[in-house]
Amino acid sequence: MGRGPVSGCAAAYGRIMRDDSRLPTSPGFWRSPLRGPWFTSVLGLVLLLGITVLFVTGLVSYAAYNPDLSPVNDKTPDKGILGFYLFSWPTHPHWLYRLDQGVHVTLGVTLIPVLLAKLWSVVPRLFTLPPARSVAHALERISLLLLVGGALFEFTTGVLNVQLDYVFPGSFYPLHFYGAWVFFAAFVAHAVLKVPAAVRNLRRAREEGELRPAPEPASARELVAPHPDPPTVSRRGALWFVGGGSLLLFATTVGQSFDGLRRTALLAPHGGADPGSGPNGFQINKTAAYAGITAAETDEGAWRLVVAGPSGTVRLSRAELSELPLHSSALPIACVEGWSTSDQWWRGVRLRDLAALVGYEDDPPDVLVESLQRRGAFRHAALRANQVADPRSLLALFVNGEPLTPDHGYPARVIVPAAPGVLNTKWVARMTFGETR
Ligand code: HEM
Repeated sequence: MGRGPVSGCAAAYGRIMRDDSRLPTSPGFWRSPLRGPWFTSVLGLVLLLGITVLFVTGLVSYAAYNPDLSPVNDKTPDKGILGFYLFSWPTHPHWLYRLDQGVHVTLGVTLIPVLLAKLWSVVPRLFTLPPARSVAHALERISLLLLVGGALFEFTTGVLNVQLDYVFPGSFYPLHFYGAWVFFAAFVAHAVLKVPAAVRNLRRAREEGELRPAPEPASARELVAPHPDPPTVSRRGALWFVGGGSLLLFATTVGQSFDGLRRTALLAPHGGADPGSGPNGFQINKTAAYAGITAAETDEGAWRLVVAGPSGTVRLSRAELSELPLHSSALPIACVEGWSTSDQWWRGVRLRDLAALVGYEDDPPDVLVESLQRRGAFRHAALRANQVADPRSLLALFVNGEPLTPDHGYPARVIVPAAPGVLNTKWVARMTFGETR
């Protein structure tokens, strides 16, 4: 009773809403002749490769902190089973972190135009009505929400971190880490569903010569505009445009990892800043002033390194440290923000020789390193036994033949092969061997 006319009205209203090409919920609203399965599929396949590499390099970067070694290294302590894959971070090859994080950040920036183009190519589908036709459809739409939201969240947090340093409410690390898992789960589900279609679309396009500027047949898929505007660029041209954008971002980012190209890294403010000249003229992240280090506490007369272990505690001035056997290592600094330096020549005391001073003559253990630093993350950092044992791991006093400058960690800093920059603690005050908490 009365239901017929009401539901009839609702149906008619729904039809009007869908047919009204002034609304994005109507297919007629979307007029670009470029949209279609081929364009979406090409971009999807590029993202399939690129985002998989991003995810793997991101997880590897997290493992590089040895978060399972000590709470002071772990910025995502509630990770639970998400830490299932963690492994002891090696010290070989010494450029491992430099490569991993350089690829992660540079590739992330380079993929931005591809992601935006992919979202543009499927945007009509995000407005489809009704929002859910069935339970299965509702689940699919929720997974798409996680996919699109996750992608935007991961790319935005990553870029903001590199560009503006720590601007988030709470720490960047848990946001980016948990966000990556949510995003990647939705990504895998989407890829499993769409890869066969993407491959089919490309095959069909090759067979039918669909790379011409002509619009795809309206019957092909819902993505194709039912009333397309005349084309102003071919699909291939549009792809070149996206590729050109990616190339531009790549060219203005990649220089952050190479000394000679650093000035070209316009989009990498931290790694790109001019570090000055001379032996200490290479990149830093935190200055002594930012970290709250005063000249009075690092003064030759005031500063003492405290080394503690089972056989007691030793206090050493910088002059006393210089009288211990000194060794040299050529190692880079590689920052989580993606920039890195070429190998620098560091000179100092081997970490394992310091362990021997306090009772570990043979098998050096893990160590907790504490800094004088007052501001910024990683005031404390733990290193694993394999890092301490490596003969290239030093408490450095000199770099490139000169004493460290305050910004590089004077009076003494840690330098370990393949470790993320922040684990190479500067302004070291205390080292406790056999303890990491
Ligand atoms: C950041 C990653 C990605 C995002 C945000 C994304 C987003 C989307 C969205 C929102 C849709 C429309 C949903 C639908 O109606 O099914 C879609 C469709 C599609 N995606 Fe993705 N996608 C991504 C990665 C991929 C990957 C890795 C592939 C695999 C090759 C892929 C291939 C496709 C295909 C073939 C379609 C259907 C196009 C059609 O209707 O013919 N996408 N994507």
